[in-house]
Amino acid sequence: MADTPTPKTITKTIQSPRGTHDILPEQTPAWRHVENTFREICTRYNFGEIRTPAFEATELFARTAGDSSDIVVTKQMYSFIAPDEQSYTLRPEGTAGTVRAFIQNHLNERGPVSKLFYIGPNFRYEAPQAGRYRQHHQCGVELLGPDAPESDAEVLALAFDLFRALGLEASVKLNSLGTPQSRLGYIDALRAYLEPLRDSLSEDSRKRLQINPLRVWDSKDARDQEIVAGAPRLLDYLQQNDTDSMAHFDALRGYLDDLHIPYEIDAALVRGLDYYSRTAFEFVTPNLNSSIGGGGRYNGLVEELGGPPTPAIGFGIGIERVLLALGENVPSPPPLTAFLVMLGDTARQSSPKILSLFRRVGVHCDCDFVGRSLKAQMREANRQKARFALILGDNELAENKIAVKNMESGEQELLHMDDALIKLAAINADETVARYFAGEAH
Ligand code: HAM
Repeated sequence: MADTPTPKTITKTIQSPRGTHDILPEQTPAWRHVENTFREICTRYNFGEIRTPAFEATELFARTAGDSSDIVVTKQMYSFIAPDEQSYTLRPEGTAGTVRAFIQNHLNERGPVSKLFYIGPNFRYEAPQAGRYRQHHQCGVELLGPDAPESDAEVLALAFDLFRALGLEASVKLNSLGTPQSRLGYIDALRAYLEPLRDSLSEDSRKRLQINPLRVWDSKDARDQEIVAGAPRLLDYLQQNDTDSMAHFDALRGYLDDLHIPYEIDAALVRGLDYYSRTAFEFVTPNLNSSIGGGGRYNGLVEELGGPPTPAIGFGIGIERVLLALGENVPSPPPLTAFLVMLGDTARQSSPKILSLFRRVGVHCDCDFVGRSLKAQMREANRQKARFALILGDNELAENKIAVKNMESGEQELLHMDDALIKLAAINADETVARYFAGEAH
């Protein structure tokens, strides 16, 4: 009788949540490159780093994003009731927490201008697709205090210094949303134009017309686009009814010209968050459909959250999208300088000390921890692309020497430990300097 095969137990391995990604060691150098370049440029502009909690009271985001924002309308918030029976939400964006921290810590009392930057993850329950994730990361700045168009120019100049430093071809789409008062007047005019055409609009746009007619401008539907093409334009409305906002907008355009920042006026740009007033913008690159960043002025938000009246402007740039746009044009992990190959037990027992000596003089090195043969250790040195193998046998150890093999040329020399340390430390120092000038080391 044939044996009945024992059914294999099927254990399902746990996967990361949909729309989230692990960032593996071969990818982190590119991430660090973007983050470090951003930090460096923010410091040059005298922005200070702020780190706010990854979750906040749900009310903060509900109030700041606004009832007609994508985050609220399409229920993107990751909210939960904690054991203290309070509702909290994983932050969907960085501005709300920064404004809350500005008010709570009385940053306005330190001076008329607060310049803050942040780097961190955000969480939005969105339909995952290329460039759209449920956890994404942003580097952003917020400049609180001034309303002057020079401060708009300051944050846009910072963003373009970042793009230039990263080698990213980018331009900005620019619009003015006026003040909340003038926008209300415009929304009435837009509604009056769209209402008679309601039945020709897509279902989504009919909903938008109800909640926030401005967002009909955002529709990707061809018929909707045809309809809004004939609608009154916000900028024309401001020209007639809000000359202060128009003067602000024109001044900013002049500064962008002075700074050689490429921009395009986009009357359809309305943004997905409700807190904006006046300047609104999005950064685009030629090789990506979605914007790599966005931002604008939010002059009423601080006051709305209980702080002193404080105009402000900022932006958030999606790190994943920047990396998509950069493609291969990012640094790869630094190669290993040396791999210690041990022959015999005494050599293995002295390996922690030998490695520690090389590391203390700055050498990027490693060894095999699983007791493999000489051949397997050399193979590992190759796999890790080590520039040198440091070969240590009991005899060498007794004489305080070590064989240094150049993995590319195959040349090998027997050196005193001190000389080997000096040689590899010098090579490592040269590489660090080269990486520094390539902008990869900080
Ligand atoms: P936002 O336009 O919602 O603005 O997001 C800024 C950027 O974050 C986007 O342009 C995009 O690059 C990236 N991003 C947003 N959602 C996702 C996602 N689901 N997956 C991947 N990337 C994404 C804000 O968040 C505002 N707080 C910006 C701001 C700062 N406004 C004033 N100050």
